[in-house]
Amino acid sequence: MEVYFPNTYVDQEELEVAYGVGKGKHTVGLGQHKMAFSSDREDINSIAMTVLSNLVNNYGIDWKDIGRLEVGTETLIDKSKSTKTCLMELFKNAGNYDIEGVTTVNACYGGTNALFNTLNWMESSAWDGRYGVVIAADLAVYAKGPARATGGAGAVAILIGENAPLVIETSIRSSFFDNQYDFYKPDPNSEYPTVDGVLSQNTYINALSKCYAGIKSKSLAAGKEDISLRDTDYFCFHSPYSKLVQKSFTQLYWEDLNRGILTPSPELVSKMEETKGGLKNKEINKMVTKESQGLWKEKTDMSLHLGRNCGNSYTGSLYFCLMSLICDPNVDLTDKRVLLFSYGSGCASSMFTIRGKADYTDIIAKSDYHERLENRIKKSPEFYEEVMAEREAHYGSHAAYTPTGPIDELVPGTYYLTAIDDKWRREYSKV
Ligand code: ACO
Repeated sequence: MEVYFPNTYVDQEELEVAYGVGKGKHTVGLGQHKMAFSSDREDINSIAMTVLSNLVNNYGIDWKDIGRLEVGTETLIDKSKSTKTCLMELFKNAGNYDIEGVTTVNACYGGTNALFNTLNWMESSAWDGRYGVVIAADLAVYAKGPARATGGAGAVAILIGENAPLVIETSIRSSFFDNQYDFYKPDPNSEYPTVDGVLSQNTYINALSKCYAGIKSKSLAAGKEDISLRDTDYFCFHSPYSKLVQKSFTQLYWEDLNRGILTPSPELVSKMEETKGGLKNKEINKMVTKESQGLWKEKTDMSLHLGRNCGNSYTGSLYFCLMSLICDPNVDLTDKRVLLFSYGSGCASSMFTIRGKADYTDIIAKSDYHERLENRIKKSPEFYEEVMAEREAHYGSHAAYTPTGPIDELVPGTYYLTAIDDKWRREYSKV
């Protein structure tokens, strides 16, 4: 795996002041520390190119050895030409044009669909023995209002092949799909989604609950071990902001309590008897959150390192959590099982597991993300607002465009946009 995020960010404490919301609203209420964003020098194609090129170079892969490349994104800059086709530019020198896969779109779920497609290809008679690569990348931007602080940016590249140290267990997984208008992008003239924030949170939690029930019963029906907070070592959730992940963990804890897998404290039992309430009851919710703290710290909290510091990377967000877990110095995934929950508004969701099978420290050794995260350039909220205003002014408004963002702020190896010509064709270069 390889992760990429832009080299500029805005601090959430400073955004609280600039937006005039109460102190702690973003940092405690949403659980976010920093939000990554890029200038007009980077777009969805460039961040996907950067992460793919870093993966191939860092792992010394021959460009000819990739037989499938799938992209998941909801950052659309063209209604027909897929980001996957733009990535083919990187294969030209190797003369490799025999690479299946295109871009999948469904809010934050596209990356998981790309992953499942790649696994299915590898398990099929069409597999030609080469690697699959999955890219999940997005630039998450919102209109002014409470959602804006839940933006972010990031890209992930995952190499799929034989004898992997981390194995996706394809035999048991559970999905929940429904028709909801919780977060969607109906306006071609705007980069921003239309969001019903409360509905999106509720649809997410409902999908989580349905997937959890589904994967538990499928696993038990297949004679395999139970999937619960007790029996599973680590958890990664799609993370629009960290607080929703903690709420998700509380939800699973509550469900395990109700199934008798976990034991509530006597105080919680008497409160439940007194109120006859569930998690929607504020007092009960507070008590369950408190009782789940130990397991939360042990099994999930550390997975939010990248998400807390980069914000929502939509399709990449779940895999940012996985990478944070993999690279956490106190975590050893060998012989351990990780449960992953992927959610995309609309809605599409799946739960599946990964098991650590062999030494995977190569992934940690090859990634320099901790260093890159520390060395990013902080920008002021005012600057961030200017960048957003610029994006808004230029979005879809004309064809020929020359970006003005500084190239010297990009880290070596970063692809950047040099121009959009009068036929809307984009040209890129590399730092
Ligand atoms: N100090 C500490 N906490 C505070 C403070 C403060 N000063 N002020 C508010 N809070 C808390 C609130 O109590 C609330 O906590 P709770 O959820 O535990 O009750 C939390 O901060 C959020 O505040 P709200 O006023 O409830 O919500 P807000 O109007 O800011 O909207 C939302 C939050 C809905 C997440 C919005 O940012 C949004 O629409 N984001 C985009 C949609 C989204 O991310 N949906 C999630 C799933 S879909 C997806 O991935 C895109």
